[in-house]
Amino acid sequence: MDSFGRVVKDLRISITDRCNFRCLYCMPAEGMQWVRREDVLTFEEIVRIARIGVERYGFDGIRLTGGEPTVRAQLPLLVEKLSSLRNPLTSKPVDIAMTTNGATLSTLAEDLKKAGLNRINISLDTLDRKKFAQVTRRDQLLKVIGGIQAAKAVGFDPVKLNVVVMRGINDDEILDFIEFGVDLGVTPRFIEFMPLDADDAWSENKVVPSDEIVDIIASKYSLTKINNGSDPASRYRLGDTNHEFGVIPTVTEPFCESCDRVRITAEGQFRTCLFAIEEYDLREIMRRGGSDDELAAEMERAVGLKWAGHQIGNVNFLRPNRSMSQIGG
Ligand code: GTP
Ligand code: 5AD
Ligand code: SF4
Repeated sequence: MDSFGRVVKDLRISITDRCNFRCLYCMPAEGMQWVRREDVLTFEEIVRIARIGVERYGFDGIRLTGGEPTVRAQLPLLVEKLSSLRNPLTSKPVDIAMTTNGATLSTLAEDLKKAGLNRINISLDTLDRKKFAQVTRRDQLLKVIGGIQAAKAVGFDPVKLNVVVMRGINDDEILDFIEFGVDLGVTPRFIEFMPLDADDAWSENKVVPSDEIVDIIASKYSLTKINNGSDPASRYRLGDTNHEFGVIPTVTEPFCESCDRVRITAEGQFRTCLFAIEEYDLREIMRRGGSDDELAAEMERAVGLKWAGHQIGNVNFLRPNRSMSQIGG
C-alpha cells in the first residue's frame, strides 16, 4: 500500500523498448537509442519480479507492453511462464494481458492464446491507409486489421482498440471508429494525448477532451454509461446494443486517485507512475546476486514514496526525460 492508501495490484512489464513502428507521438523517424540487448531483462528476471508481485503481494494483473512486445523473440514462452503464477492464498491465476500495435498478430495470436494470454488491447489511431502510414511511418494498416481479426478469431474477447485522439490528425474519425468497432466486434477506447512523445509534438491544444468525444458520439447514438470498476476508461453502451466504447481522460480527469499500477522498464527499472521521475534499479539487485527479500524491500520502498499523481497542465509539471516506448505504455 502506498502512503495515500492505494493498493498496488497491477504490474505493467515492458519487455522491450524496440518497435516495428515509429508512431509520431512516440518515437522519431530514425528510432531511438535502443537499450543494449544484454541490458534488457531476461525471461527469468522478468518472471522473478512478477513472482514476487503475485506471491508476496497478491498482484492480480500483469500487462506486457513495450516498445512493441511482439518483437521480442519467443514471447509465447514468457506468457506461458507468467500464466502459471498463482496467488498462494487464493490459488487464483493472474490476469495476463498485452498491449500491442497488432501488426504481427495474424501469425502470433493463436500461440499467445494457447500460452495463456487472457486479454489483448490493440493500438490503432486511424482507419485511413495514407494517414496510418503518416502516423506510424509504416504502411501497415491492412496488417493491423488482419491482426485484429485474428485476435477475434482465436477467441480473445473483448478486444479493445486504443485510439489516441490528436486534434487535427484523427479527431474527424471518431464516428468511423464506432462503426468499425460494431462491424468487427471490438471496443474502441479513445485516449487523451499525453506529453510522452520523443519529438515534443505534444501541446495542450492537441488534446481532445473526452467530454468532446462523448458529445460527438452522442450526436448520433443514444448512450448509457456503464460502471467501469477499476478500468481507467469511462465506458458507454451504444443504444440498446451490446456494443460499447470507452474514453480514457488521462489529461482532463486523471485516474491517479485510484491508481493500482506499478511498472518495470525493459532494463529492469521499477517505476510507480507513468510520469515518475524516480526509477528503482531492480536489475542491479538481481545481477549482483541480491535476494528476493532485497528485491521486495526495494519495491516496497518505491511504493511507499509513490506520489499522488501527475501534474499535466500545471506549471509544476515535469516531463519524464524518457518517451513512452522507453518507459512502457
Ligand atoms: P485495461 O486493463 O484493458 O483497461 O488496460 P489499460 O487501459 O490499463 O492499458 P492499455 O495499455 O491499453 O493503456 C490504455 C491507455 O492508458 C494508454 O494510453 C496508456 O498509456 C494509458 N495508461 C496506462 N497506464 C497508465 C498509467 O499508469 N497512468 C496514466 N495516466 N495512463 C496510463
Ligand atoms: N498519449 C496517450 N497514449 C499514448 N500511447 C502511446 N503514446 C501515447 C501518448 N503520448 C498509447 C498507445 C498504446 C498505449 C500503451 O499507450 O496507443 O495503445
Ligand atoms: Fe511503437 Fe507503440 Fe511507440 Fe507506436 S506507440 S512507435 S507502436 S511503441
